[in-house]
Amino acid sequence: MLSNNPVYYHEGTDTWNVFRYDDVKQVISNQEYFSAEGKRTTLVVGASNKEGTVPDKINLSSIDPPKHQKNRSLLAAAFTPRSLKDWEPRIRNIVHLLLAEMQPDTTVDIVESLSGPLPSMVMADLLGITLEESHRFKNWVDILFQPVSKEKQIESEERKRIAAKEYYEFLYPIVVHKRSNPGEDIITDLLNVEVEGERFTDDEVVRTTMLLLGAGIETTSHMVSSIFYSLLYDDEMLYPQLRNNLDLVPNAVEEMLRYRFHISKRHRTVKQDNNLLGVELKKGDLVIAWMSAANLDEQVFEKPFELNVQRRNNKKHLTFGNGPHFCLGAPLARMELNIVLTAFLEKFPCIEPVDSFDLERNLAASAPGQSLTSLSLRLVGS
Ligand code: HEM
Repeated sequence: MLSNNPVYYHEGTDTWNVFRYDDVKQVISNQEYFSAEGKRTTLVVGASNKEGTVPDKINLSSIDPPKHQKNRSLLAAAFTPRSLKDWEPRIRNIVHLLLAEMQPDTTVDIVESLSGPLPSMVMADLLGITLEESHRFKNWVDILFQPVSKEKQIESEERKRIAAKEYYEFLYPIVVHKRSNPGEDIITDLLNVEVEGERFTDDEVVRTTMLLLGAGIETTSHMVSSIFYSLLYDDEMLYPQLRNNLDLVPNAVEEMLRYRFHISKRHRTVKQDNNLLGVELKKGDLVIAWMSAANLDEQVFEKPFELNVQRRNNKKHLTFGNGPHFCLGAPLARMELNIVLTAFLEKFPCIEPVDSFDLERNLAASAPGQSLTSLSLRLVGS
């Protein structure tokens, strides 16, 4: 599509689709011409009942300025650079707990033992949920935000509604308690924030955590799995190379975000007639911006189909979006990915693929596009 149909009208879905880097960037960031409001084209995560939906005050992904800036500032209170610094040792600790369960010379399913649990354990900790309660939290979060296979989609809707209700009933008293007993956590940050006289009610804080979980769990899980997939199947020399030079880890993470975050796309609605993409776009037309394709555009990335952890400009990838809606959790996600990869490399000298692994049988539709439901690998001791 990049070479032959960079701006493509798809009749079946009545959408314009753009693939080239500059076009994708234009569509996702130019709010004057392309609105984030309107129909969704991605899978809906979370549950459809009241407890599972995000309060209007904090809707972010599908609104435009000026409301968007205000809502974003409310949520940004939880993502200050100071918070990030405090979170680093906490994330490291969780990663070490998970890695302690894995022994050399065994086979592990990395989705089950690492990429699945890590993001929800991190979020539980950052929300200030105690370790004893965190397994209950994780159960609900798994039901709400981990990918399910197509066959199980209908029964999963009902399970999601139940989980959202139980989650709400669990978190609400915690939020009320934190009003008078503040802690070092996101719930306390959200209770304290005030933007232009606007504050969160307890109910809104609970449902705002839903937004954070919806935005941060599947995406980060998917990316941790993809990193391991990449290490096993894209370039088998990469693991020893990184282990010998841990300074390469941050750039390797960026390269994998560029190269391995597939099928990631965002939709926008045309706000006013224009031909910014070289075709006549009419107000109301739906445009899908394919970030995963833009990340492989050779006009921006040299030899884009090669995974090159030394690539200098890979941070330009659009995996976290661009412009006003740029991912608010990107610094947190980057930190988690760097910590988990470094700690893993430090602990295990070598990893190997398992012959019986069949990619097609271990993929499920998910919010990022498709995610691995399982990924076995062999941990080699020495
Ligand atoms: C927005 C990707 C992790 C919170 C976005 C957007 C993308 C994205 C592409 C832009 C959506 C748009 O333009 O409409 C990712 C990826 C992640 C990740 C690839 C992990 C590898 C996280 C985490 C959190 C988070 C860990 C928080 C806990 C958000 C929020 C927004 C957002 C709140 C909405 C920002 C806005 O609309 O202003 N993310 N995300 N994300 N992300 Fe992330």
